[in-house]
Amino acid sequence: MSTILMCPPDFYGIEYEINPWMSRAIPSDLEQSRKQWAALRELLTSLNVDVQLMDPVKGLPDLVFTANAGVIWHDRVFLSSFRHAARQGETPVDAAWFSSHGFQTIEMPRGMYFEGAGDALFCGDTLYAGYLVRSDATAMQWLGQQMGCRVIPLQLVDGHFYHLDTCFCPLDARTAIYHPAAFDDYARRALAQIPNLIEVEEDEAARFACNAVVVGQDVVLNAGCPKLEAALQHAGFTPHATELGEFLKSGGSAKCLTLRLDGETAAIWP
Ligand code: ARG
Repeated sequence: MSTILMCPPDFYGIEYEINPWMSRAIPSDLEQSRKQWAALRELLTSLNVDVQLMDPVKGLPDLVFTANAGVIWHDRVFLSSFRHAARQGETPVDAAWFSSHGFQTIEMPRGMYFEGAGDALFCGDTLYAGYLVRSDATAMQWLGQQMGCRVIPLQLVDGHFYHLDTCFCPLDARTAIYHPAAFDDYARRALAQIPNLIEVEEDEAARFACNAVVVGQDVVLNAGCPKLEAALQHAGFTPHATELGEFLKSGGSAKCLTLRLDGETAAIWP
């Protein structure tokens, strides 16, 4: 059984603008958000996932995006250090949850921004690390030293794909999906080391197709990405689409709303 952390969207909303998808002029609907979030939770439960919950907090609308709480590694969590002041209040809340659930919490060294599993994803035993928009490359190198693993820094060049998990998703130790235009040449060459790469086109990348939750061979993603669904099926995976439009308004989708607590399917931890 896999374990995933989620946080109900009771206080979710578009209260500030820290990425190009967010506009206070286009607010989210609370009822719809609740329904979409609950459907995602149910879908994951039906895939035999143990969904654990963190209490939502008023004034922290992005706490729903648990992928940004930190990076889990064995019984440790490397806590995020958010770039934007609007999200910095989440870290003490995350730290309290992890400490009371048996994790050893580790803080980033001072002055390094780091946004957790939004930017740091294992594919096999290699940590792929998005930097520039939110996380710092130095934070990723520090993380690699702590874990004793290879880190491949990937520069993110398009503000719309501001976290690595918006444009890259490892499916297993040798397979990943990605949106090429979100990366520079060097990053594209680095990614080409992954034996099986599935490309996501612009229209579906903009529907956050890459922001998928992988549980074994099952892949949960936003509705409206038929080309990726077909490609996943072709590669032997089973896609499960669920509508997450309310969260797209904040620049998030399935993956952002989850944090795998027992190691991602694609990860081989050192
Ligand atoms: N509004 C949030 C932000 O801009 C969305 C975070 C999405 N999370 C993610 N892992 N991509 O920070």
